Parts: sequence; C-alpha cells; structure tokens
Amino acid sequence: MRVLISGAGIAGPTLAWHLAKAGMQVTVVEKRTRSQAQTGQNIDVNGTALRVLKEMGLFAELRRLNTTERGTHFVDRHGTPYAAFPVEGISMTSEHEILRGDLAQILMDSTMQHERIEYLFETAVQDVLANDEQAVEVQLSNGDTRRVELLVAADGQWSRTRRAVFPADAVSTNDKGAFFAYWTAPRSASDDEWWRIFTALPNRVAMVRPDPYGTLRVCLSFFPRTDAQRAEWQTASRAGPEAQQELVRRQFADAGWEVPRLLDTIKDAPDFYMQKCEQIKLRHWSVGRVVALGDAAYAPTPLTGMGAPLSILGARVLAGELSKLAPDEHPARALEAYEQVYRPFVEETQALPSFVPGIVHPQSAWRLWLLQTALSIGARIVSLSFVKSRVNRDPEVEDFKLPEYDAFPRVADASPVKA
Ligand SMILES: Cc1cc2nc3c(=O)[nH]c(=O)nc-3n(C[C@H](O)[C@H](O)[C@H](O)COP(=O)(O)OP(=O)(O)OC[C@H]3O[C@@H](n4cnc5c(N)ncnc54)[C@H](O)[C@@H]3O)c2cc1C
Ligand SMILES: *[C@@H]1O[C@H](CO)[C@@H](O)[C@H](O)[C@H]1NC(C)=O
Ligand SMILES: *[C@@H]1O[C@H](CO)[C@@H](O)[C@H](O)[C@H]1NC(C)=O
Repeated sequence: MRVLISGAGIAGPTLAWHLAKAGMQVTVVEKRTRSQAQTGQNIDVNGTALRVLKEMGLFAELRRLNTTERGTHFVDRHGTPYAAFPVEGISMTSEHEILRGDLAQILMDSTMQHERIEYLFETAVQDVLANDEQAVEVQLSNGDTRRVELLVAADGQWSRTRRAVFPADAVSTNDKGAFFAYWTAPRSASDDEWWRIFTALPNRVAMVRPDPYGTLRVCLSFFPRTDAQRAEWQTASRAGPEAQQELVRRQFADAGWEVPRLLDTIKDAPDFYMQKCEQIKLRHWSVGRVVALGDAAYAPTPLTGMGAPLSILGARVLAGELSKLAPDEHPARALEAYEQVYRPFVEETQALPSFVPGIVHPQSAWRLWLLQTALSIGARIVSLSFVKSRVNRDPEVEDFKLPEYDAFPRVADASPVKA
C-alpha cells in the first residue's frame, strides 16, 4: 500500500514510522522547510503515548532533550512566588517535558533515512483530484500529481486537506475563547529553571519557561470578554504575524511584572506563533480513501496538555488497523476500526469544563484574589507529605488501552526503525 501523509508535525512522522514498519510505502509532504517544521514550545508526553515512544526506541532521546523545568511558580507583580508546584508532586510541569520542535526532530530523524519513507519539504497538498474505489489522486504544490491508496490529513488544526475533502458541516469547532502567542527570547538574571506564571488584570496571563538551550520560552494569553475585543483578536489572528505582534505589544504594554522586557524581544523572535484556542471535532474521521489524524481530526487545545499524546496514539492505532488489511484490500475497514477503537478516548480527552480557561484570566481584582488564594492554599495542601503519598502521580500509568498489533515491537525488543 502507498500512503501519502500531509504534514510533518508530530502525527505525520509517527504514522510514517509505523507504516514503514508494517511494510508500506510512505511519502510525507510538509509545507514548511525542515527547520521551520521543528519549532514550538513545551509539550508533555505521558501515559500510553510514552510507551509508544519507548517502543519506537526514542525514550532516551526524549529524556536527553528534556526542558530542565523544575516545577511551576505562580508569581505576583514583583516576581515573588505565591504558589509553588514542584515537579515531584502534583504539578502542571510533568516528568517528560520536551519542546515540540525537539520531539518533531526526534521523530523525523528516526524516519528520514528509511528506504520506504520519502519526505518532501516546502511542498503542500493543494487539492484532491479523485477519491474513488481504486485510488486517491492528489495535486501537490510543486506541480506533481500522486496516485496512492490512502491520503492522511495530518496537517494540523487548520488542515487544508480536511477542507478539500470533508463536507463543511462535518467539521465543528469548540471555541475556548482564549488566544495564545508564543516566541523564544533571551534569558535574563531573574529567569530560573521554573515555569513562572503571572496573572495580569484584566484577562491576561504571561508566562516564561526554561528550555535546554539557554533561552526562554514566552507565552502570553488573552481572554477577550467583549465582542469588540473578540473581533479585534480574531481580525489580527487572521491577518498574519505583523498584525498579531502589534496587537500583543499594545494589549500587554501595561501588564506589569517583566512583561515589558519580554515584549521588547518579539521583533527579533525567530519563531513567533499565535494560536486561537479552539478544539476541532469531526463528525466522521474518514471519507473514502482520505483519513484525518492528530490536530486535523481532533485538536484538543493546549489547555488539555494532550495534543502530542493524542497524535502519537492516534498514529499507532491507525497504522495498526491498516497493518491488518489483506493485500489490495480497500482501507475502509481499517479506517472504521481506527475511529471505533480511538474515538471514546479522544472524546474523554476533549471534555473540558466550560469555566476553563476563563477562570485563569480574571477580569477583576476580586476574582484575581480568589484565584491566587485558591492556588496558594492548593499548593500548601499538595505539599503535605500526607497528601503527596496518597496521590503519587505516575506519568507512565496507561491512560489508553492500546490494542496489540503484531506489526509493532513490544518494549522488550523495541529498536529504532532500520532501513
Ligand atoms: C509551528 C507550530 C508550533 C506549535 N507550538 C505548540 C506549542 O508551543 N505548544 C503546544 O501545546 N502545541 C503546539 N503546537 C501544536 C501541537 O504540535 C499539536 O497540538 C500536536 O502536537 C498535534 O500535532 P499534529 O502533527 O497533528 O499537528 P501540527 O503539530 O500542527 O503539525 C501539522 C504540520 O502540517 C504542516 N502543514 C499544514 N498545512 C499543510 C499542507 N497543506 N500541506 C502540507 N503540510 C501542511 C504544518 O506546517 C505542520 O508542520 C504547534 C504547532 C505548530 C505547527
Ligand atoms: C497527562 O497529562 C495531562 C495534562 O497534564 C493530564 O491531564 C493527564 O491526566 C496525564 N495523564 C497521565 C496518565 O498521567
Ligand atoms: C534533562 O536534561 C539535562 C541536560 O539538559 C540532563 O542533565 C538531565 O539528566 C536530563 N534529565 C533526565 C531525566 O534525563
């Protein structure tokens, strides 16, 4: 079977690894350059997804490239922490923090040299010309057309492949309201190995996190409360990086804490990125010989901390079901099975209480006081050894019951895929 994957983020290369292992021929097309595709900030990998990376032989690399973060500090406007959540306890910092870009690179490195995997960078899927009984035919931006047995849309939250194939009413979005802006900045004397989070009135959060390269990962988020604010952010987010940066600078100028010096670094940032916090829901994950994977099918938003694990597990299940097909069989049976096995876990993961993320972007001094009080009491409670011993969080506990597929190695005999 020949498979064309659109998108070399987290989902695409993970799927390529598994399909090649199962003997299939894979082409991955990525619209960015290789180095642009390897950007992005802190993500964590936990639960069953961690086991998959172990079985792919990538666990040592994952650990080696950890972000060195020691925990989470909520700070006041003087930078003094009022609530601390060290990684050893209950914390938003997990045991396996890595930059998205580093994880993308590890996954690409483990698949790049394989004889059955081909990568085309700066190439996008432009259109789907046919999707019928025999094949799916794809128009690429480099002028080529490709005929393959399966097309996978792994091109992210705003997937163009999804738009070309799925009916508009099959896609729904769950707008969580907030906007996030990310970039990399130089460190200064006050930066340490902690994730520092500052809540600014009204409706704003600023945070900085360490990375393993001696620089700092900045994230600002804004939660619009009025129609005018929403329209302003929406317009800028569609208009591109210049308008986005201008808005972020203007709206955060008076936020306090260390925000002004962070804003000064935007213009030199190599990787500024803005994202609307929005979940993707697809009524059905496949149409004929085209299937959606990862954020293209079920973006959960950074609020869940589950974007990367969902992509990794989804890739494993999809590849596993495809590996069970008879030679020359139409993929429909496998695509149905992928959805049937995996959809319940996706829906559980996407379920977020409606007060998130509004509650962490308070609009008044009173709500900020409530939030800070709750956090500082919470931090004190979870630091009690009595509580710690009871809720010992194991990041490797299996959250998704992965079916066994003969095509893939178990942990004991796990090794990098060999050409
Ligand atoms: C630049 C970037 C930075 C990110 N930073 C963060 C972060 O800091 N924190 C966080 O939690 N999540 C971040 N994410 C999202 C996170 O990667 C996903 O939630 C999750 O890992 C799912 O991965 P995915 O492979 O499905 O999608 P993505 O990681 O979004 O990858 C999709 C890939 O498809 C490519 N692509 C898009 N359109 C086309 C096309 N038409 N043809 C070919 N290729 C195409 C994109 O360039 C991208 O490389 C980021 C995503 C991107 C693209
Ligand atoms: C993985 O991390 C996410 C986000 O922090 C969390 O919600 C989830 O419970 C974690 N899962 C496991 C198995 O630890
Ligand atoms: C995390 O990375 C640092 C180096 O950046 C290394 O010293 C440390 O051992 C790593 N941690 C783990 C758990 O591998």
